[in-house]
Amino acid sequence: MATNLLQTPGRRGADYLRERFTKVRDTSLRITESLTAEDQMLQSMPDASPTKWHLAHTTWFLETFILEPHVPAYQPFDVRYKYLFNSYYKQLGGHPFRGGRGLMSRPTLAQVRDYRHHVDSVMLAQMENLSDEQVRLLEIGLNHEQQHQELILTDIKHGLWSGPLRPETIGDRGPCALAPCLTWLELEGGIHLIGHHGDKFAFDNESPRHEVLLRPFRIGSRAVTNGEYLEFINDHGYTRPELWLSDGWDTVCAQKWTAPLYWEQRDEGQWQQFVRTGAQTGMKEVDPAEPVCHVSYYEADAYARWRGHRLPTEAEWEVAAVRMPVKGTLLEDNLFHPQPARGEGMQQVLGDVWEWTASPYVCYPGFKPETGAIGEYNGKFMCNQFVLRGGSCVTPASHIRASYRNFFPPHARWQFSGIRLTDDRS
Ligand SMILES: [Fe+2]
Repeated sequence: MATNLLQTPGRRGADYLRERFTKVRDTSLRITESLTAEDQMLQSMPDASPTKWHLAHTTWFLETFILEPHVPAYQPFDVRYKYLFNSYYKQLGGHPFRGGRGLMSRPTLAQVRDYRHHVDSVMLAQMENLSDEQVRLLEIGLNHEQQHQELILTDIKHGLWSGPLRPETIGDRGPCALAPCLTWLELEGGIHLIGHHGDKFAFDNESPRHEVLLRPFRIGSRAVTNGEYLEFINDHGYTRPELWLSDGWDTVCAQKWTAPLYWEQRDEGQWQQFVRTGAQTGMKEVDPAEPVCHVSYYEADAYARWRGHRLPTEAEWEVAAVRMPVKGTLLEDNLFHPQPARGEGMQQVLGDVWEWTASPYVCYPGFKPETGAIGEYNGKFMCNQFVLRGGSCVTPASHIRASYRNFFPPHARWQFSGIRLTDDRS
């Protein structure tokens, strides 16, 4: 059975599409409005792109996959953008070197905003006339933009952190809330179904839905906290090779890691972390109740081993998550920082921090990417990466679900990535 990049129930009303389109496009501008034009050019490493590039590339996606092939009278805003804002679609011809995106002083931010306005005007005028196929492509385009909204916020955080002027302390952590005790949700073994089902949007890598065989397991009620992770640091976790995978230990040594990304220890021994939350950007005292964040797969794996537990497979995570789809902190909360767990039962399932799983990012049985350039969206990245589940505090609420598969290389730390523990049931 061929899988589509998107399963939708078919054509949606033009008013609904117009409203959804406007909301998604406006969100990209809203989350960037406090950034200067200089901020929006920052590229602190090849993996992180400038804000301005994200704003242009998401527009390029709509132009390339919807307007140019499907609207005969469409006039491109600038024909050079076809090359300039292509990210990695080899079937569409060339694209600039990824690590050189910070060199694009031209077009200016104002021109990129004009580009967005040009494409938006044509898109909105087309809403009455979209075929089912074009609606399908539009949903992909809007979900693509939501992925880039998360990247805008993770990339600019890394950019603002990387400047030579070190961030200022913006205050202590305030009253310290206590995280609820970690409890365990017990799940049965046997044959379970995972993967996308239903008629809402999903990416192709979430299909086909299929059976998995699981042994009985238990999963933590919440994400691992900073306080718990500090115990690992204080027990010399970063200097004990027996806790680490070989590649992880090599990375710890080469990168001189001693703590999660954005953590710094003051002379008096106190840990601070860099945050960009609300109107504040700077160093804040590490709150032991908040989920630990900006850790790599290697660190998540070493921490779990030190605790005597393990990371969940993505199948275990999804089987547990569909039973308790309780939401945590998401982009719409405008905090851009994970919050302490509250309440009882399974918490922080969708939101707060992406949770590393022990599963390599590979295709599901029967997976077939779409033909053509848009088939390059997901499938070609199924190598050398691990799956993360659950979304983060910068994931849009309408963009996350239990079957969603994110993926990053095991050394990556600049995403809002954290840890949920799992164990076999004896
Ligand atoms: Fe993209």
